[in-house]
Amino acid sequence: MQQFPLFVSLDNRRVLVVGGGTVATRKIHSLMPSGAQIHVVAPNLSERLTQLEKSGHITHHAREYASGEAQHYWLSVAATNDARTNAQVAKDANECNALINVADEPRLGNVAFASIVNRAPLQIAISTGGHSPILARLIRARIAAFIPASYGTLTQLAGDYRQQVKDRFQHLAQRRRFWETVLTGPIAQRLLRGDETGARQQLSAQLKLTIEADGQTDNSVDVNKGEVYLVGAGPGDPDLLTFRALRLMHQADVVLHDRLVSDDVLALCPSDAEYIYVGKRRADHAMPQATINDTLVKHAKAGKRVLRLKGGDPFIFGRGGEEIETLADSGVRFEVVPGITAASGCASYAGIPLTHRDHAQACVFVTGHLKQGALELNWKHLVQPNQTVVCYMGLTALKELCEKLVFHGLAADTPAALVERGTTQHQRVFSATVATLHEQVASASVRAPTLIIIGSVVVLRNKLQWFNPALDQSVQESPANGDSFMN
Ligand SMILES: C[S@@+](CC[C@H](N)C(=O)[O-])C[C@H]1O[C@@H](n2cnc3c(N)ncnc32)[C@H](O)[C@@H]1O
Repeated sequence: MQQFPLFVSLDNRRVLVVGGGTVATRKIHSLMPSGAQIHVVAPNLSERLTQLEKSGHITHHAREYASGEAQHYWLSVAATNDARTNAQVAKDANECNALINVADEPRLGNVAFASIVNRAPLQIAISTGGHSPILARLIRARIAAFIPASYGTLTQLAGDYRQQVKDRFQHLAQRRRFWETVLTGPIAQRLLRGDETGARQQLSAQLKLTIEADGQTDNSVDVNKGEVYLVGAGPGDPDLLTFRALRLMHQADVVLHDRLVSDDVLALCPSDAEYIYVGKRRADHAMPQATINDTLVKHAKAGKRVLRLKGGDPFIFGRGGEEIETLADSGVRFEVVPGITAASGCASYAGIPLTHRDHAQACVFVTGHLKQGALELNWKHLVQPNQTVVCYMGLTALKELCEKLVFHGLAADTPAALVERGTTQHQRVFSATVATLHEQVASASVRAPTLIIIGSVVVLRNKLQWFNPALDQSVQESPANGDSFMN
């Protein structure tokens, strides 16, 4: 028979826990926030329970359980390691229809403790009906990862305004529409960003401005304004997305994405969103930057939640700054979610720490993008000792980069690596020296995107390499994955 989930008020009610060991301690911990009067019957207490008794959180009766005792309590928990005692507690409670939980023998009791994700006052309870507490724990961890702590504050805010909203809107459908807009829109976003005061002010203002006319709610003011989420999608592996990125991705109406955002990451966006591909391949800028900026503004001003997904981190060689400058100039609300930049992702997945006490105390990121066919970098700055140089967009200029570094004083036998399509199942890593890397890469029909790492940290890969992608050659050799976009 399926159990019925129920949330019970235990505030000031007498609850009996029989047992003073580990299991009893765990049960008491989950009971404590409920405000129950907890009585513990056990000859001895665990260290933690002794502390709780001292601090007045529980009352201890230092003796064995007395037959019939459970009948004087609203809820009892049998948590001893003696099956006979547990069965006696269960029998006593069941006889007078009191609530009873038996830790090791759930079928003797009539209530089960759920696995809880606690974002008080929001609580999410998970039960497997006693089939697999471990599965319940794993599911709890997954849910907890998706529900930030600030959801508790959001729940509180909804509770605080509940009556006001009820007074303003007579009809349930209107109230539902209002709350859906608030809880999925900019007000909730603001609160989840940590600006509770701002969110409350905005909600009060919205409530004031909302006009009921012929059963229609005029929500055209402020609350329905669109906004832009500039989100770093990381280097490719979708597991490297942040929780915040994932949350904002789930609620996008429009998605603007470029070539570096992997299909696996895109697959996590809503299927009913509008998708706009904005480039960029080196020889084929699908959309000029100014048009991208204008597109963001246009959709946000039309009240849409616009997701601007960028490979890696939007503020590292990503032109994210330019895009939000336009948004700021146009008065469009935006937020920025950092992503794992290619340097971090590729270095980690290649087993190359970018700094290491024995090798490098500094790390420099440069772009190998050619300006009018030439590579213009501060070479003196790049050939410093104990430093790692990471070069983005450097495949085309690889030979020139390495030659110029050597010309400006870097030892020709300095270790160097090129990471191809890092963090994905297509990752390949070529490691050599600055003098030989170009030759090695030239003979391997390498595909972009690629990242170059130069410095003695590269040798650590011999020992620290851990990621073994399951290379799918058919995909790797496909012409569709050609080397034509920005390397
Ligand atoms: C226009 S930049 C964008 C960088 C991005 N904003 C970031 O933080 O990683 C593009 C360059 O990032 C590097 N890159 C991005 N993803 C990569 C990956 N998965 N593997 C290797 N390099 C990558 C390549 O050098 C590529 O040419």
